[in-house]
Amino acid sequence: MGNEFLIDTGLVNLAYLVASILFILGIKGLTHPRTAVRGNFLGAMGMLLAALATLLAKGLDFRVILAGIVVGGLIGAVAAARVQMTAMPQMVAIFNGFGGIASVLVAGGALAIVLRGQAPPGLQMIIATAASGLIGAVTFTGSVVAFGKLQGLKLFPSSQVIFPGQKPLNALVALATVGASVWLVSDPTDIVAYWTVCGISALLGILLVIPIGGADMPVVIALLNSYSGLAAAATGFVLNNNVLIISGSLVGASGVILTSIMCKAMNRSLTHVLFGVLGPAADGPSADDVYGGNVKSASPEEVAMLFDSAQRAVIVPGYGMAVAQAQHAVRDLTNLLESRGCSVEFAIHPVAGRMPGHMNVLLAEADIEYDKLKEMDEINPTLEQADVALVIGANDVVNPVARTDPSSPIAGMPIIDVDKARTVVVVKRSLSPGFAGIPNPLFAMDNTLMMFGDGKKAIVELIAALKES
Ligand code: TAP
Repeated sequence: MGNEFLIDTGLVNLAYLVASILFILGIKGLTHPRTAVRGNFLGAMGMLLAALATLLAKGLDFRVILAGIVVGGLIGAVAAARVQMTAMPQMVAIFNGFGGIASVLVAGGALAIVLRGQAPPGLQMIIATAASGLIGAVTFTGSVVAFGKLQGLKLFPSSQVIFPGQKPLNALVALATVGASVWLVSDPTDIVAYWTVCGISALLGILLVIPIGGADMPVVIALLNSYSGLAAAATGFVLNNNVLIISGSLVGASGVILTSIMCKAMNRSLTHVLFGVLGPAADGPSADDVYGGNVKSASPEEVAMLFDSAQRAVIVPGYGMAVAQAQHAVRDLTNLLESRGCSVEFAIHPVAGRMPGHMNVLLAEADIEYDKLKEMDEINPTLEQADVALVIGANDVVNPVARTDPSSPIAGMPIIDVDKARTVVVVKRSLSPGFAGIPNPLFAMDNTLMMFGDGKKAIVELIAALKES
């Protein structure tokens, strides 16, 4: 069942070039919601073209490839259909891991094939193979640990795993991976050296991710995403495959950019994410200190009365809106308020929710006009003119201690200044903390009302109360 439709290398490279251009146009399209669907389509077409050209170029055995497509396609389709929007970060994590292990196996397979021939592999190939094995294995095990932490698997505690001598041990293992890579490059005929590089790197991946707390996991996932791209690019050099080099580099670069955007939005350096500690400060104020009987709760009817006289409302969605799947109810509320002459805008914090763009995706799903979504820097200076700031399931991204308490774990993180609005209404189920695990003095401020309840239920009740008022 060999491939009989060989096409010549020139044509294959032309197809790769067109595919690469489609990838770049695809990424450009993804930068705006209006062009995102087209961008996604262009990227997918690029991938189809690259895959077809590769399949037609080589004398391949299609049975193995078909088996791979069926197994991989099934796993991908079932996972994509079943995943909850809130579990998307761990899905991305495990897919990064698959990318890493694929690079390890493909580079190992390519080396084994070359070693079966007479001549040893060339210097470019062996260095690229070592890089594929090293980065791919770190990506694989690091991503599996990240997945386990976010999924709450018992084997992987979501808190930081810290033990004495951890940093020296990590440094030692990192040195050992370099040592094994040097061994492989200096003796390229020994496949044992390759698997040693992979084995030690796999251990390094675990050791590097276990000390990182759940709160920093999305940043780590973006970084691992970048690693999976670098591993793929290295495998491109192993196979001399230009499209793999280009697509791997695109993933590598975009992952690094995303990592840096997320670090900036949390006001943390990458070194602090990777080697620092994030969690409730042991000596931080307790919830009792912060709330101290000053929390006022309001019923949907009372909140509806507030909206009666409101001219301008700003809605701040957060992780809880995603959990409650309240976006459609929020759209209905927006339409109702606008029909009553109250303007509505959405304040979007760059790390609201659990992944970049989380809120934008949910609001777009509910057909909320994109023009109503305002970035934090744009909306903050206008919040003093808002009659009501309605916070739905957001907590850390509206916590004023980020501005006021330099010892807080979220100190310096830019936040949405809802406390400056005339009245703040916070919808959440309890006074439980958000992701960072710290109390939020916003809930006890004079101009804040808490509307306790599930996000969706509360908004539906508010709509009913508004209609009755
Ligand atoms: P959080 O601070 O995590 O707060 C979410 C709040 O939603 C919780 O306090 C919870 O309170 C409430 N909630 C949960 N389920 C709800 C439901 N069914 N109905 C109503 N409320 C519900 O969320 P945020 O303000 O969006 O901040 C995001 C956090 O994630 C930040 O700390 C950020 O640094 C971190 N993070 C985000 C990212 C990205 S890329 N988005 C990456 C890394 C870290 P109750 O339990 O009382 O309801």
